[in-house]
Amino acid sequence: PVMMEGIMLPPQPFHVPWEQHINELRTLTLRDDDVFLCAYPKAGTHWLWEVIYMLLHGKVTYEARTKEFMMIEFSSKERLEAEASPRIFNTHLPFSMLPVQDIKRKKIKVVHVYRNPKDTVVSQWFHFKQFGANIFKDFEQFIQAFINGPMLFGTYPDYLKQTEKFMDDNPDIPFFNVSYEETKKHPVETVQRLAKFLGVSASDQLCRDIADACSFQKMKEADKSKAVVKDAAIPLNQDIYRKGEVGDWKNHLSAKDEALMDKFIADRLQGLTKFKLEYTP
Ligand code: A3P
Repeated sequence: PVMMEGIMLPPQPFHVPWEQHINELRTLTLRDDDVFLCAYPKAGTHWLWEVIYMLLHGKVTYEARTKEFMMIEFSSKERLEAEASPRIFNTHLPFSMLPVQDIKRKKIKVVHVYRNPKDTVVSQWFHFKQFGANIFKDFEQFIQAFINGPMLFGTYPDYLKQTEKFMDDNPDIPFFNVSYEETKKHPVETVQRLAKFLGVSASDQLCRDIADACSFQKMKEADKSKAVVKDAAIPLNQDIYRKGEVGDWKNHLSAKDEALMDKFIADRLQGLTKFKLEYTP
């Protein structure tokens, strides 16, 4: 991993150095109908991306391939520029590394999805293990890193704080803030609210169809048919669709882990007003 401006980034996956890539991203020319989907890793990026894609195209159609290329930190400037509108940029980068000037100038729509920290740390751990990285001895050590850093794309509290600050500082930017738990509990309503936010007219039937097509099982099945995007910047043979549930942390956190996470939530995630994070199923 590479450190840049205090943020830990993954190993360089493409031909240009991180500094150059981030600077290219910061100065990317946006189009009025671009949408940004921002999320901390494992908060539900793939899920919301597909929902937004289907809404903007007015039909149920999976686009796993475009989705991976639109993950801006792993894509190239040329690839992003070549993408047809409406573009849905997908990113874990903090706002300080995004084309904020153009986001502000063009009032670009931003969707942010977040997830309760206990399920997030479990999901990240399984994701991380799939890459075969042996940096962490065990889950407890991973939890320690999740709490204290360094973590890829910064720690969760830092990520959420800068997101909240961005929202506070830019009240005129259309911002759709939604939790994984809310989306899971009210999928159709979330799709309907998103449609409204995106300014697309989607019938109730289409919203129901999209919510259904984007259920965990359906997305998992759809992914199997095109699991590997061979020419992507990173090997995409990892399984994104693991369990897809709220509260799976109960199956993985020991009493000690849970106490660590509770303390972390109490110490580090207080004071945030825009996120409901103390979610207990
Ligand atoms: P789990 O590891 O808990 O199963 P991201 O897309 O940000 O990488 O997040 C991946 C997490 O979201 C994984 O969580 C994955 O299973 C879950 N997920 C992906 N698609 C989903 C869907 N349609 N419904 C619910 N959860 C989904």
